[in-house]
Amino acid sequence: MEKNFKRTLITTALPYANGPVHIGHLAGVYVPADIYARYLRLNGRDVVMIGGSDEHGVPITIRARREGITPQDVVDRYHKLIKDSFEGLGISFDIYSRTTSDIHSETASEFFRHLYDNGQFVEKTSEQFYDEAGGRFLTDRDIVGECPYCHAEGAYGDQCEKCGSSLSPTDLINPRSAETGATPVLRETSHWYLPLDRWQGALEKWILEGHKEWRTNVYGQCKSWLDLGLQPRAVTRDLDWGIPVPVEGADGKVLYVWFDAPIGYISNTRELLPDTWETYWKDPETRIINFIGKDNIVFHCIIFPAMLMAYGDGYQLPDNVPANEFLNLEGDKISTSRNWAIWLHEYLADFPGKQDVLRYVLTANAPETKDNDFTWRDFQARNNSELVAILGNFVNRAMVLTHKYFDGIVPQRGALEEADVRAFEDIRKAVVDETAALEGFHFRDALKYAMEIARIGNRYLQETEPWKMAKTDMARTATILNTSVQICATLAVAFEPFLPFMAGKLLAMLGQGKITWDMAGREDLVEAGRRLGQPELLFEKIEDDAIQAQLDRLERIKKENQTKNWKPEPVVAETSFDDFMKLDIRVGTVLECEKVKKSDKLLKFRIDDGMGGRTILSGIAKYYNPEDLVGRQVCFIANFPPRKMMGQESQGMILSAVNADGSLTVVSPSADATPGAKVG
Ligand code: MF3
Ligand code: ZN
Repeated sequence: MEKNFKRTLITTALPYANGPVHIGHLAGVYVPADIYARYLRLNGRDVVMIGGSDEHGVPITIRARREGITPQDVVDRYHKLIKDSFEGLGISFDIYSRTTSDIHSETASEFFRHLYDNGQFVEKTSEQFYDEAGGRFLTDRDIVGECPYCHAEGAYGDQCEKCGSSLSPTDLINPRSAETGATPVLRETSHWYLPLDRWQGALEKWILEGHKEWRTNVYGQCKSWLDLGLQPRAVTRDLDWGIPVPVEGADGKVLYVWFDAPIGYISNTRELLPDTWETYWKDPETRIINFIGKDNIVFHCIIFPAMLMAYGDGYQLPDNVPANEFLNLEGDKISTSRNWAIWLHEYLADFPGKQDVLRYVLTANAPETKDNDFTWRDFQARNNSELVAILGNFVNRAMVLTHKYFDGIVPQRGALEEADVRAFEDIRKAVVDETAALEGFHFRDALKYAMEIARIGNRYLQETEPWKMAKTDMARTATILNTSVQICATLAVAFEPFLPFMAGKLLAMLGQGKITWDMAGREDLVEAGRRLGQPELLFEKIEDDAIQAQLDRLERIKKENQTKNWKPEPVVAETSFDDFMKLDIRVGTVLECEKVKKSDKLLKFRIDDGMGGRTILSGIAKYYNPEDLVGRQVCFIANFPPRKMMGQESQGMILSAVNADGSLTVVSPSADATPGAKVG
């Protein structure tokens, strides 16, 4: 913060273009980066914010193969979806490009070639699995087989998704290529490695000594990597999707995705600023800030900086890497493969005009220092009791009252009284606190201070009661409402980084054009005599049914996942017909059925069993309405000894099937059977 700088380059981790963006990405990277960029712009600072899609890497090729399309098709689809949805949420990239662009492959190739020519790589030969049928090298993910631990089929060469064990391809029983089914064979291949060990000392000095101010999670991860001792890392792969290694005799080899992707920050800056891009990367008075999630720390703090140092030529290292922890969803880890996420494009479709609500909730719950949880109930509560009830309410009252008493024309104020002076002082204090929090990347806190301004506004109206004052003293009322309008203007500025849509609406109502950060807290921002626009509600209440629809969707996904991963229980040891005949299974008709008091599990049945009737208790209350079962037929075991449950006697057991999600389905005859008929 102390460093003198002329410009700021903000980078945001390039999302993989093999799926849409979800709230975890937003909370971790794009919303905080956007807040920061908007804040700097309001300060009139020279800033560019760089984004783009990461379009190489193995998962994209796997997805393409599975869908029978090309990798380019995959990235074209998701690049567009991601780009459009970022725009929909108001993420204000100066450029959002992609790593399949020509300028990127040119930039990345040149980068590699420069390191290569300067002896910055070591070449090493190793053995790697090869698919002779498909004629290509296999990554661990391309190899499938039986898990040595749980014996599930279809475990991957790096992990068994059934039992979660980490594996290497040699652990698999019966390993084969996922694509062709051929048995992988080992074949020699050579690759280029970046000798990170050469940069150990420089990195230690730069991070451990030079950047003690970094977030503890970031600093800590760097320290443990450095303490372990850095090793050379391969920066090329045997793959047919990626940027070809620009060296003779390297056919079939491409740059490793984690080598080319961060260079994407440079390519995108070049694309945006063909003439001046270098000042953003090489001038020591430039400050580079990388916004990322915690899984990207080593790449941004160790590997990419080593690449930049190896390149030389004045490339600057990041000044800060504000990495966030993870956001969970309703208590569960967000997962693309399990579809356990809130996808940005779906949110925008389901909640049109409510971009700021999501931005607000993700910032208020930002996982800055620890993992955090997003819940739909919290989303609703924050909208209804904070955005609507505090911020929206204050602005609405100030606007409506000004229209009511002064025809929407900002009244001339008289001398400020103590309450007015105090309100302005409190607000300026909140603005100072908010500013410090923003400078320090504490966006959660910054948002709290912004909200504090609206609270001060509400308290001020409560205290000064212009609606009462108007009955006796219009001059004093004018001062109060003038002050309230000034507070509205401060709110528009103070919230612009967080809630840009709301700020735009509010500024339009105030008839206020360009704003700057130093306007926040001013007492004379909106001049007397200015005509205000019609008051419009800034936020509206979110009702239970909208939230319930989202919870239902998640419930459905949970069920689908349970079914997808479900395996029938293993069949138990062999038995004999004679043993089976010892069980007396009968059909009965349900005459009565009711819930057992004080039990949420048990239903009590009166059954016509053809033998005078009997009572049976069954633990299926969660899955059936008792009324719906009356008249239906069930199968039950008739020769179990009577048993007491919750103080009542049960004379048998009703048969039901145990489903994938643990629910129970009663077994019924397919057509009417005679009550008392024997099943066998
Ligand atoms: N695509 C990576 C991820 O989603 C991030 C790449 S960041 C970059 O984890 F620096 F490499 F671009
Ligand atoms: Zn397993």
